Amino acid sequence: MRELVEQLTSTGRLDNASLKALVTQCATDDGVLQLLRDNAVRTAREQFGRGIYIRGLIELSSYCRCDCLYCGLRRSNRLAERYRLTHDEVMECCKEGYRLGFRTFVLQGGEDGTHTDKWLTELVSTMRREYPDVAITLSLGERGEESFRRLYEAGANRYLLRHEAANAQLYESLHPAGRGLQHRLDCLEALKRIGYQTGMGMMIGVKGQTIDHIVEDLQLIARMQPEMVGIGPFLPHRATPLGNEPAGDLRLVLATVAIVRLMLPKALLPSTTALATLSPTGRLEGVLSGANVVMPNLSPSDIRAKYAIYENKASWGKEAAEGVAALDAELHTIGYHIDYARGDFNLK
Ligand code: 5AD
Repeated sequence: MRELVEQLTSTGRLDNASLKALVTQCATDDGVLQLLRDNAVRTAREQFGRGIYIRGLIELSSYCRCDCLYCGLRRSNRLAERYRLTHDEVMECCKEGYRLGFRTFVLQGGEDGTHTDKWLTELVSTMRREYPDVAITLSLGERGEESFRRLYEAGANRYLLRHEAANAQLYESLHPAGRGLQHRLDCLEALKRIGYQTGMGMMIGVKGQTIDHIVEDLQLIARMQPEMVGIGPFLPHRATPLGNEPAGDLRLVLATVAIVRLMLPKALLPSTTALATLSPTGRLEGVLSGANVVMPNLSPSDIRAKYAIYENKASWGKEAAEGVAALDAELHTIGYHIDYARGDFNLK
């Protein structure tokens, strides 16, 4: 097993059988998991030192046309409180975020039909004009290639679109009303073609997911070479069909983050809010598995509770933009600090 970790570390690759053996072993073997994470941390440090990039997350809308089985914002959830931010409210978030030192804004939201290209390009153009030195990241689900292109031309730089599951059967079972895995992957290809720094990712522990599925996810990520990869545990939301399912396993999340770090040394990997929600030490454990990004919440405080993709989602304290000092203090306990730079993917 140790040889597999060393092979992954030196080559960035493992075959399916080896990956499966490694992930399986990490579920129970402290020594192997620790070795994997130590190597991932060393690789991340060679690229980024002990700096952690921050991204200010602005949750644009809780309306969503999708019906993903796991998500609290799914359209069938009649209990979800819906809101959408106005243009001016978003600009207020940016103003506050900029003041706090954020140089990346992430516009994230459900697939809200009122977010036309016109409305979004006006928003992105205004942000670009008022904050020429920030990176603008979009995380707004599937759109057409032309739409992606208009938004890029308006000034967006990055796009997060988790692939959710590389296995078509698992993908279909989780997204009964979706447009299918191939459409998802087509979107990712289009984003790359246009020039976005592109993010993929998946949850760990969602219903029906096996270690083989995780191996498929990891190999897809290795093939696609995204600039960003978001990985977190599945967390149940009671008003969804998966409300009684167990949360994802912490060790498996840490192992997959570490493996992705070793496969993609330069990738921007968040220690996700879901990981911080799963465990009080989750955020730091993510960093100590090779993650190098944290995405605090910059949404207006009165709407944060309404953006409930899962329950008890952390959006206060160190997960809040106004908590950056506390976040920095927490990072210092493990010898890290916030890096306030834009933090683009480094092509060199
Ligand atoms: N638990 C954990 N992560 C979730 N997401 C959606 N619902 C949940 C949940 N119940 C993730 C999905 C999505 C991202 C915005 O959040 O992977 O892409």
